Amino acid sequence: MTKNLKQWIVYASLVCVLCMAAGCSAAKVGGQSQLLDKGVVRFYAEGAKPDTLPPSLALVADPKVQGSAPNKWTVSPQFSVDKDGRYAARVDIEPGTSLYGTGEVMGPLLRNGSVIECWNTDAYGYGPTTKSLYQSHPWVLAVRPDGTAFGVLADTTYRCRIDLTEDIVFAAEGPGYPVIVIDADSPQAVMQKLAKLIGTIPLPPKWAIGYHQCRYSYYPAARVLEVAKGFRDRNIPCDVIWMDIDYMDKFKIFTFDPKGFPDPKGVNDSLHQMGFKSIWMIDPGVKAEKDYFVYDQGVAGDHFVKKADGTEYHGEVWPGMCAFPDYTRPETRAWWGSLYKDFMALGVDGVWNDMCEPAVFNVPTKTMPEDNLHAGGGGLPAGNHAMYHNVYGMLMVKASREGILKANPDKRPFVLVRANYIGGQRYAATWTGDNSLTWEHMELSVPMVLNLGLSGQPFSGPDIGGFVGDGDGDLFARWMSVGALFPFSRGHTAKDTRDKEPWAFGKEVEDTCRTALNRRYRLLPYLYTVFQDSSQTGLPVARPVFFADPDDPKLRAEDDAFLIGSDLMVVPNLAEKGIRTPAQPQGIWRSISLAADEANQPQLKIRGGAIIPLGKLVQNTTENSLEQLTLVICLDDKGQAAGTLYEDAGDGFGYQKGDYRLTHFAANQKGNQVVVSLKSEGKMPKLNRNVSIELITEKGTVKARGRESQPIEIKM
Ligand code: NOJ
Repeated sequence: MTKNLKQWIVYASLVCVLCMAAGCSAAKVGGQSQLLDKGVVRFYAEGAKPDTLPPSLALVADPKVQGSAPNKWTVSPQFSVDKDGRYAARVDIEPGTSLYGTGEVMGPLLRNGSVIECWNTDAYGYGPTTKSLYQSHPWVLAVRPDGTAFGVLADTTYRCRIDLTEDIVFAAEGPGYPVIVIDADSPQAVMQKLAKLIGTIPLPPKWAIGYHQCRYSYYPAARVLEVAKGFRDRNIPCDVIWMDIDYMDKFKIFTFDPKGFPDPKGVNDSLHQMGFKSIWMIDPGVKAEKDYFVYDQGVAGDHFVKKADGTEYHGEVWPGMCAFPDYTRPETRAWWGSLYKDFMALGVDGVWNDMCEPAVFNVPTKTMPEDNLHAGGGGLPAGNHAMYHNVYGMLMVKASREGILKANPDKRPFVLVRANYIGGQRYAATWTGDNSLTWEHMELSVPMVLNLGLSGQPFSGPDIGGFVGDGDGDLFARWMSVGALFPFSRGHTAKDTRDKEPWAFGKEVEDTCRTALNRRYRLLPYLYTVFQDSSQTGLPVARPVFFADPDDPKLRAEDDAFLIGSDLMVVPNLAEKGIRTPAQPQGIWRSISLAADEANQPQLKIRGGAIIPLGKLVQNTTENSLEQLTLVICLDDKGQAAGTLYEDAGDGFGYQKGDYRLTHFAANQKGNQVVVSLKSEGKMPKLNRNVSIELITEKGTVKARGRESQPIEIKM
């Protein structure tokens, strides 16, 4: 423990003891403030010495301090030490304020009244009352009755309770911590300011926004290829097949089972030939076994986490007793990254980092002891596991991403991670862990994705079809129909469950799944455009409907319907029986159709004033869906609409040097004629594609055709 940490703990305990002696349960600790940006203020408890605190792992960089809070600043935390000796920060809310965020939580979108504990936990089979899931986002977004908003970030890596039963109260173990408040005109503006602080997702490779098929585990290699072929034979679009732990030799990372996967490169080559990408799992636990190259290298480089007595810590995971890389050390991150060189050279396209809470079997805490030691370095202080637990997964994926990028400098890395921390979207996408195939999990997968998006992580999705349990075809089909519209769309299931490929429940379910995925693939040009925007602005990909009208109180709790970007609304029926009609924003929203027979699918509605680009149906993203462009147009009440399409190579970094094409569409109505014009920017050559127009009007759809280079006229 560093001297500063010790000082803080002594200070905190002193305040607490004095407070308890005085018979009060909360002692005020006053405050000091730093203006970080317009509408962004960082607060410290009185007596804190900001320069002596460890660097923030949430923030992308240390922001420049521009003075202190402006005079008229209204949202200020009150600091205290609570009855448990935790540093608490309280922000009062006015009646009618709606609360969101708090990261990965199961439950309704609206978080008012909830209490959760940020403590990354292997939460197998979790439910709506589980207080700690796999990730920690000590962050709350608050939307006032008038639609203006603020956000509060407790910048601590320690175990931290978020109590929203009355106001917003954070209470964290460990030393005092800064609290950052963002105040803005709208929830969107708060999210954008948050993104300036914690960063955004890197633009993913295009294939990563296709559909993914996984199970624990496809085994042996022949089964992997059979599943892949199953998609192609049945004309069900899919981009990625996943390899779970059974591909490894006795679950040892960076090895391959000689029986089931003797030729991993061959598997990848075959998948590539069929237009698939492959993702392979790597866990943090390294089997503590002499003569196993990863362990030997780890010992030689002093890369493993230590116990309080300074000896190497071992805990049980899949391969047996394991040592755990200490990702707080820059040398360890570099070593870990270097392990991916030979791995990626086998044609691996993406990496799945799991179990990085870190999960440890057969101990009541499900993780390593809190007094384990992390060495730190490169600006990070040495600290105990209590301090670094919540960022273990984040530092792991930082190391993975950097290593993968080094191995393949011309490709965009794709990493999926289970345990993460606010800001961790900079390194990896996520999924919502070991859910179950129940109606409740299916329904609540929508608000889970939405609240992650409102916590800085826009690239997420559940195990479609549920990890635990067999369920039935109706439920599976319903989940796929909505799951195909999540930012991250992957089917996955546990070891002893039934087959859950889209065709596994018979023809009717297969047809529903095909239509669902056909719709996703037609929407990919729009979805990729929304992802690109999210990588710039930090706005979520899947957004709550209240984003369309933040001061409409009827929308605040809606968590069946959601938006993709700002122009497309998904209106599913998630009720097990009968029909539940979601609340929808006022104004013009018109239904669109993307495939034949959409009876069992969520309705899709375009916003009045929007133009949504669609591609032709493809089976995977290596096929060009944009030889011909379809524009779905819905005019606003002034007879106008606009939209954009972002295109680039789909992988690599040319786009950072201008190798992209951003096409702006505009539609204007004059009398009974609508003129659509297209204008491209960026270094990619301008095209003169055929364009099909679908103008969605009150009376029906008006179709027209034209070429990209000429204004297109539509007679209404
Ligand atoms: C736990 C993960 O949550 C799950 O998705 C995976 O299949 C198993 N670990 C096995 O690797």
